[in-house]
Amino acid sequence: MCGIVGAISERDVQGILLEGLRRLEYRGYDSAGMAVVDGGQAVQRAREVGKVAALVDAIEGNPLKGHLGIAHTRWATHGEPSRINAHPHMSGDRLAIVHNGIIENYQELRQELKTDGFAFTSQTDTEVVAHLIEKNYRELGDLYSAVKATIARLRGAYALAVVHADEPDHLVVCREGSPLVVGVGIGENFIASDQLALLPVTDRFMFLEEGDIADIRKDRIDIHDREGTPVERSTHRFEHGADSADKGEYRHFMLKEIHEQPRVIKATMEGRVTASRVLEQALGTDAENLLDHVRHVQIIACGTSYHAGLVARYWIEEVAGLPCSVEVASEFRYRKHVIQPDTLFLCISQSGETADTLAALRQAKQAGFRAALAICNVPGSSLVRESDLVIMTQAGPEIGVASTKAFTTQLTSLLIFTLALARHNGLSEEKESEIVQALHLVPGQVNDVLSLDGEIEELARGFMDKNHTLFLGRGSLYPVALEGALKLKEISYIHAEAYPAGELKHGPLALVDSEMPVVTVAPNNDLVEKLKSNLEEVRARGGELFVFADREAGVASEDSLHAMQLPPVHEITAPIVYTVPLQLLSYHVAVLKGTDVDQPRNLAKSVTVE
Ligand code: F6R
Repeated sequence: MCGIVGAISERDVQGILLEGLRRLEYRGYDSAGMAVVDGGQAVQRAREVGKVAALVDAIEGNPLKGHLGIAHTRWATHGEPSRINAHPHMSGDRLAIVHNGIIENYQELRQELKTDGFAFTSQTDTEVVAHLIEKNYRELGDLYSAVKATIARLRGAYALAVVHADEPDHLVVCREGSPLVVGVGIGENFIASDQLALLPVTDRFMFLEEGDIADIRKDRIDIHDREGTPVERSTHRFEHGADSADKGEYRHFMLKEIHEQPRVIKATMEGRVTASRVLEQALGTDAENLLDHVRHVQIIACGTSYHAGLVARYWIEEVAGLPCSVEVASEFRYRKHVIQPDTLFLCISQSGETADTLAALRQAKQAGFRAALAICNVPGSSLVRESDLVIMTQAGPEIGVASTKAFTTQLTSLLIFTLALARHNGLSEEKESEIVQALHLVPGQVNDVLSLDGEIEELARGFMDKNHTLFLGRGSLYPVALEGALKLKEISYIHAEAYPAGELKHGPLALVDSEMPVVTVAPNNDLVEKLKSNLEEVRARGGELFVFADREAGVASEDSLHAMQLPPVHEITAPIVYTVPLQLLSYHVAVLKGTDVDQPRNLAKSVTVE
């Protein structure tokens, strides 16, 4: 998704803006640009299609000098990726804006502005906003009032940052439906769509609320809410080390993030479990009262987070004994639902800014759910701010577009939540203790799996020249198979599908031949014998099997069966541990195929538009 950075300082801001853009690359984008106001003289602008590096090359011999600037990475929604569609957009040669989001009524505004004599150079919805601000500026005479009058006419979602060469001592920003943070400096201030962009210059952040408009100067930040009332937004310190945005010794962020999992799973447990119990107070002051009343759980999420929800359904029904439904947010939000009394609405989202998930949450709040719980990785995100109860995963910033550590920390949080809920529904102390102890073993077990990296890399060679792959799992490992298939298609572009192994003979078996590798996860649970029969069905058709199996499950390598032995794991925690070899497999296939692992084509990290 689009990324925004802005700065006002005593020093030249070009370097700050470029570093900010580099740090936003993970969100996915197709072009980049920046505009700098040089001491009130003029706005200088540079824009390039492709990577931020192309922008750096373009301005190398001709730097943009000035103390006030805005910059942007674009992910095309209106108009193809091209230099003229790249941001910043300008009206005349003195006003520049960057925008993240979608203006729904841009066509009608465009017509109106054309009638007023404004000429359009791009196909974007953003240029409409630039001209509308300029029109209001001519009437009202100051930038802040012009932006305020403009947003009163916009429908849709936006975060905007605006500069004007006639007012070189400030920038005006606002948000409605798209994220925007203010970075607080000393004698300088910044804005960005994500805190990560600003970590080299500050670790103090203010999160703007929906409808806020802010006037950012070197030494002052004035914020007004939707009603025009002056408001204070508290300042938070960034909680993770500034190094989170560096690859360190790893070749890719994805690999680094896969290897961080033992640490971040542990961090997600910290303060929430003792050696044998879940501390439900750690889920929030209202948790105890709320969990007492919950009779049903409705989970909503997208993509990888949806898969975490599917695993949680097995846990909630098995361990807590309560009915649980799971649905992708983009479907849920557009259909009528029957809400069972005392249903808890549970949203799972790494970013907390996914448009469909937020829309589903906002609907749910009107629809009569008992309460809304969020499982999220980004403090201060819209999801966190709009939910009644929050469990923060402690994954730290996830930069690779393909989600890895966010998923396993979501699972960890969901299991902790399940245990807290189960305690209100008759779970014995003994069983709770057994599962909590199993959870404590997970970081070590994930480490054991990570030590198989070299062997998994070897296995990956078997996929390099394949066009399709089938993933199989049973029970709570079926969503793990779904997640394995999603990872493989996202980063290696190999078509992959997942099935519950028992469904094989109801159709997909027809696809199996020597060109269709079949990947299976097989912990030693009560379904393993049935799974082994499914594997025989594949082998009998000449299929090549790649099986990640519990070393005590009795699955050994032979002919067309490649078995990778995993440590014994409790059946409840197996989905967390068995996710990791599938992440490594996809990673190595992608590296062997030479794809862009951290920024796969056509994908964005944070999907803030519908
Ligand atoms: C896949 C992936 C996506 C996200 C999805 C939801 O690797 O990362 O499928 O899981 O876009 O994003 P969040 O969790 O931020 O709501």
